[in-house]
Amino acid sequence: MILNGRTAVITGGASGIGQAVCMKLANEEEVRAIAVVDQAGETEQFCRKLNDALGRPVLLPYCGDVTDRAFRESVFQDMEERFGPVTLCVPAAGIVRDRLAVKLDQTNGKVKHNMYDEDEFRRVIDVDLLAPIYWAMRMVASVAMDRATRGLKQWVPAETMQGAIVLIGSISSAGNRGQIAYATAKRGLEGAQATLAKEAVYFGVRCAIIHPGFTDTPMVRSLGEEMIKDRILPNTQLRRLIRPDEIAGAIVFMLKNSAVSGTLWADAGWHPTA
Ligand SMILES: NC(=O)c1ccc[n+]([C@@H]2O[C@H](COP(=O)([O-])OP(=O)(O)OC[C@H]3O[C@@H](n4cnc5c(N)ncnc54)[C@H](O)[C@@H]3O)[C@@H](O)[C@H]2O)c1
Repeated sequence: MILNGRTAVITGGASGIGQAVCMKLANEEEVRAIAVVDQAGETEQFCRKLNDALGRPVLLPYCGDVTDRAFRESVFQDMEERFGPVTLCVPAAGIVRDRLAVKLDQTNGKVKHNMYDEDEFRRVIDVDLLAPIYWAMRMVASVAMDRATRGLKQWVPAETMQGAIVLIGSISSAGNRGQIAYATAKRGLEGAQATLAKEAVYFGVRCAIIHPGFTDTPMVRSLGEEMIKDRILPNTQLRRLIRPDEIAGAIVFMLKNSAVSGTLWADAGWHPTA
């Protein structure tokens, strides 16, 4: 699928993996317009800088919370009015809230239960599971509505692919200590991907999922250098963090290659002990 000239929505686009995807799509694929959706204050500055470097206003900052329905609708409506249907979507905004599920207090031998605050669990599910699914579904609707106005019904291969979505899972979807909520959300995305892949092809849209290993972004740096050195790097074959542009390269490949409809593990040979 040719990405040149298309319109994209990337959430979490102001940092880490989302930012690297925006840069690749703008620089190498010459996508026409990219909605950079993020709640971070640096969103506008990032867009301005990259637009200046490119010499064309390809990145459009949209500052807000991805769990806000009205905000989501306003982003899509604005993009559709200005550029037509949105045909690429990478919902990369995400958070971690790590804590053990149940813990033995070594000082008094008592078990601490209810460790994982329920409101925090729900917030992780809202941001890491529900939001990416709803942003992806709204992109499918963007393509479907455009087709309906043109009197097109079921997609046929002669049209070639109309759009693509890449959801961002994680190696934690296979289970990871301290990440009960995050792992649940990321595993849940697999079900969403498998379902959307089956449904959205009616409109000519593919849906895939990538499971990145530990990647050098602010999210991972926030775990602390000791954690990275002692607990993460020894369990990888690369013995280093993955670069965001390596994951972005894989995501862009998945968007472009029409044979991709499933799952890619880009995990640096992650092989933790039990
Ligand atoms: N870094 C890794 O090792 C790694 C590994 C596997 C999966 N992932 C996933 O990749 C994605 C990107 O992570 P990253 O490492 O680049 O993190 P990051 O912290 O660098 O970037 C995440 C971005 O999402 C934004 N964001 C968070 N909550 C938001 C909200 N409610 N509304 C709007 N924006 C919001 C943040 O402002 C930030 O800019 C996430 O889904 C993460 O779970 C990361």
